[in-house]
Amino acid sequence: MKVTAVLLAAGQGTRMKSDLPKVLHPLSGKPMLWHVLEALKDAAPEKPVVVVGHGAEEVKKYLGDSAECIVQEPQLGTGHAAMQAEPLLKGKTDYVIVTYADMPLLRGETFKRLLETQRLNSGPLSLLTVIADDPRGFGRIVRKADGTVEAIVEEYVATPEQQKITELNVGAYCFIADWLWDALRRIEKNPKKGEYYLTDIVEIAVKDDLPVQAVVHDDFIETIGINTRIHLSEAEAALRMRINHQHMLNGVSMMDPASTYIDVGVKIGRDTTVLPNTYVHGNTEIGKSNVIGPNTIIRDSRIGNRCKVLASVMEGALIEDDVDIGPFARLRKGAHLKSHVHMGNFGEVKDSTLGEGVKLGHFSYIGNATIGANTNIGAGTITANYDGEKKNPTEIGEDVFIGSDTMLIAPLKLGDGARTGAGAVVTKNVPEDTLVVGMPARAIRKLERKKKKG
Ligand code: UD1
Ligand code: CA
Repeated sequence: MKVTAVLLAAGQGTRMKSDLPKVLHPLSGKPMLWHVLEALKDAAPEKPVVVVGHGAEEVKKYLGDSAECIVQEPQLGTGHAAMQAEPLLKGKTDYVIVTYADMPLLRGETFKRLLETQRLNSGPLSLLTVIADDPRGFGRIVRKADGTVEAIVEEYVATPEQQKITELNVGAYCFIADWLWDALRRIEKNPKKGEYYLTDIVEIAVKDDLPVQAVVHDDFIETIGINTRIHLSEAEAALRMRINHQHMLNGVSMMDPASTYIDVGVKIGRDTTVLPNTYVHGNTEIGKSNVIGPNTIIRDSRIGNRCKVLASVMEGALIEDDVDIGPFARLRKGAHLKSHVHMGNFGEVKDSTLGEGVKLGHFSYIGNATIGANTNIGAGTITANYDGEKKNPTEIGEDVFIGSDTMLIAPLKLGDGARTGAGAVVTKNVPEDTLVVGMPARAIRKLERKKKKG
């Protein structure tokens, strides 16, 4: 049995007031469209078809070959949009799930329920409805006296009686494919708007005495459609709670999930605590028993176990076990802190490896460096890694003691056990177990001595 999803995403999304196509606006780190495709994966495993129009190039570029794209031009309504999929799918699939690409909160299990309902239906289509007090412009579900679905009436044509109906059309339908293509052709142009409404397909089935089934949903939140940025923020808040609840059920503590912003796909181990105002983005993995935050931003990073990350920023970084950083530490791309590293306030590390037990307590910049185990980096140490053209490496051995305010002018090597005095400017390699201090004085100009009067 083949099931294929058709996503309608050609509309302009005028009310978003945006240069970015509506379906590419992100929620919890992924575009709206990603969320819908993800939710459809289980119910409709065939390669999905996305009907694009406004912003087609951008949407196609984003999708790559994860979906078949088909352009709807001009955009003559949702019925017309669904019709575009016929050349791609006719004779190739048993069921088609049609849904709108602006409903990112619909869950995988909801689409599965819709498919199961249709598999048991002797008629050609099933649809998803929701009971809600606030209709928000959704189409109303009109039922016959015997309770079966009779029609979907769009809000602007609904009679005052129909407007009171609290059962609404969500915008997810499952069809028997062979029936769908002919039925789409029978949809007539709506006289008022000049569009072909997919919703009219219900009446076509009813006219032919074919039963239409409805899956009635009770979670209105899940059916939020995004038309404005206000809806987007509401959906994002709901999604945030969904993600955070899952982490908490997996054993992660959150003092205030409403102010804890974790992207979809982030992994967090049990007994880790995430404190308020913390953002965890992208491809990030956090191990067990860590304390993260408050006031922390982490992106595309990996954190081992038992670490503390307080009020700090990490991007493209890796910290191993028992590391503590912050407050106000910054780890940039390629920062790798091995176990038991301590990094205090106002340190910055990029493209560098800090060996086990390295201490970098205060005010330092470490770039393009490797630092051996148990080395101490004094306050205010700078690796001067950039000569105006290229980045140069600094290699610091094990058990080194770098005095406060040392300038390490790269390229440079310091052997194991070396020491620098406070304020040293190191321009030449330092052998093992050697102390260097100051900066060798050198002549800068010749002075004229005044002759004493005899
Ligand atoms: C639609 C439904 C309505 C339902 C509501 C739920 C119709 C006629 N109405 O109304 O019953 O309650 O969704 O959110 O279907 N699109 C195209 N091509 C077009 C027109 C639209 O691809 O020519 C796409 C849009 O990009 C969008 C989706 O179809 O993703 C829905 O279109 P939209 O204009 O938002 O429909 P609603 O007025 O919300
Ligand atoms: Ca809509």
